[in-house]
Amino acid sequence: MALVTGAGRGHGEAIALRFAEEGAAVAICDILPVSELDAKVGARIRDAGGAALACQTDVSKEDQVRRFVRSALDRFGTIDILANVVGIAGPTKDVWGMDLAEWQKTLAVNLDSAFLCCKYALPEMIRKRRGRIINFSSGTGKQPLSHRTPYATSKMGIIGFTRTLAADVGRYNITVNAICPGAHEERTVELERARAEYRQEAFDEEAARTRFKEARSNAILAGRWCADEGFAEKGAGSEDAAAIAAFLASDDAANMTGQDINSGGWVMW
Ligand SMILES: NC(=O)c1ccc[n+]([C@@H]2O[C@H](COP(=O)([O-])OP(=O)(O)OC[C@H]3O[C@@H](n4cnc5c(N)ncnc54)[C@H](O)[C@@H]3O)[C@@H](O)[C@H]2O)c1
Repeated sequence: MALVTGAGRGHGEAIALRFAEEGAAVAICDILPVSELDAKVGARIRDAGGAALACQTDVSKEDQVRRFVRSALDRFGTIDILANVVGIAGPTKDVWGMDLAEWQKTLAVNLDSAFLCCKYALPEMIRKRRGRIINFSSGTGKQPLSHRTPYATSKMGIIGFTRTLAADVGRYNITVNAICPGAHEERTVELERARAEYRQEAFDEEAARTRFKEARSNAILAGRWCADEGFAEKGAGSEDAAAIAAFLASDDAANMTGQDINSGGWVMW
């Protein structure tokens, strides 16, 4: 049985579907109304032959996470996999123009959520001496993203959390790894638009899409060149993230823990 947060769309939705296709029952949560989540993603899981439980959960709220995990245990009896996929972009601003509340919200949704979901899912994994935890960092977990300090800090924090938790739960046969996607085209265009607005610069969407296709956008967003110009940036779509998650949850990855795995070629370390 797998828990997937932020499953209403994007990587979370793709991972929930992939786990269902691999035969897992899936408990999905999102901040979306449960009827919407269930009709959109729960129905697709059931169509794929899987069992689904949908919950409306704000993953930054302890009582709501506790309830989500409890509901999943009540319905399916155990937890084998926890995929902490949820993440928000946070504000596009410099630190000196940012409200503390904006900083705290990004950290709460991106980082506190992983802590809370692990806190409530781990006792069951420890009880049965088996579990897989998959956290979501980003290419931005390893390098800067201009004007996005809360996001970058949260994603760098996820890597520290992943490594430390991996060290703490290895003795219970539980692995903890992180996936670090590069941005896909839509997210990259969104980031560039937000940055241009913040800088009060003109934004040319077509040029942004061309830059993405030419493998340059991500490097520019990071404020420097980090990819060999000859390397074709393929982006990092939801299916790529789902394939890595499926591998991390499989028996083939039984001895892999504390790792942060990139996709998309944006970063290479
Ligand atoms: N898409 C990319 O290009 C990209 C790149 C690098 C890293 N990532 C990371 O991958 C993960 C998934 O990204 P995505 O682009 O698929 O996200 P997305 O924005 O498409 O989907 C995020 C989902 O989380 C939900 N959500 C937001 N706040 C919530 C909350 N408080 N509680 C519960 N649910 C909430 C949203 O409703 C949405 O359904 C994130 O952690 C993100 O940081 C994505």
